[in-house]
Amino acid sequence: MLQDQAAKLRKYVLDAYLEKNDKKEHHPTPPPLSPPSTGGMKGGGMSQHQQFAIATGKVIKKSGKRTIAITSGKGGVGKTNFTANLGISLSIQGGKVVIIDADLGLANIDVIFRLSPKFNLRHVIAGEKTISEIMIEGPFGVMIIPASSGVEYLANLPQEKREKFIEELFETTEEADFLLIDTAAGISQNVLSFATAAEEVIVITTPEPTSITDAYAMIKVLFQREHSNIKLLVNMAFSANQAKEVAEKINLVVKQFLKKEIDFLGYILEDENMPQAVKEQKPLILLNPNSKAARCITNIASKIKRHPG
Ligand SMILES: Nc1ncnc2c1ncn2[C@@H]1O[C@H](COP(=O)(O)OP(=O)(O)OP(=O)(O)O)[C@@H](O)[C@H]1O
Ligand SMILES: [Mg+2]
Repeated sequence: MLQDQAAKLRKYVLDAYLEKNDKKEHHPTPPPLSPPSTGGMKGGGMSQHQQFAIATGKVIKKSGKRTIAITSGKGGVGKTNFTANLGISLSIQGGKVVIIDADLGLANIDVIFRLSPKFNLRHVIAGEKTISEIMIEGPFGVMIIPASSGVEYLANLPQEKREKFIEELFETTEEADFLLIDTAAGISQNVLSFATAAEEVIVITTPEPTSITDAYAMIKVLFQREHSNIKLLVNMAFSANQAKEVAEKINLVVKQFLKKEIDFLGYILEDENMPQAVKEQKPLILLNPNSKAARCITNIASKIKRHPG
């Protein structure tokens, strides 16, 4: 009986994944894994994005802080809202938090925090500002590095300048306990460079089949990049059981095809208070700390704090 159920689940996820994968446009081929090169993007060597990721990773890993990238296969699954609220929750629980807004899109961290940053990474790269000068303070002392369009510039920098930036990022965030990276969705070079640079990656999915299959695609690419610290978060779940089922479905496929396993970090319940908070431009965790979703996020923050790495 149980075996039947497992087989059914496996078939369901697989069918959805394979069917989707057949339509190639949904899963752009991930950038190739190339050997390191000193020649930048030209000449078939490692791309500047990859160099950035690796260099960032090295620098960040040397420090005591935890770097956590929040990512997803499909867009609109709640990454930015989770990152913002997680940041506040970790801060309330005594952690020093810096958030890098590494999404090029519009509805970003600063909108959720109702902040209007005048400067972003572009100004740092142009040499007009330092990272600490562009950093702005959000609620509960959470610091935000507004990257936005600057992320693009960063990826295209010559190695020397990029290293200088990374060094500065390291020095500026030295005191932080958590560096949270809110990425864009999907398997793009930009997202992957941030995700592989972070020591921990949280992949968010919703219970929607398309979101599940895209999350699997992202997990697969991360494993291919030899990222081993991947955790799954199910957002907009109907119930704890539904979230658990989603995590089990994904793990079935991950086990079968990648011979790996990922940790289920937890779930956030679907909660109409979340879009309401977005409308009011106030983080849910402050606007309505007792709401279903806020309580879930508080639990996740405690779990993250309790279980380093
Ligand atoms: N737990 C939840 N319950 C209900 N709505 C939610 C929940 N989490 C997020 N949302 C809603 O989902 C929408 C998308 O959220 P968000 O912008 O955080 O997603 P995202 O993954 O960062 O999107 P993008 O991929 O565009 O960056 C928002 O309108 C938000 O209010
Ligand atoms: Mg976002």
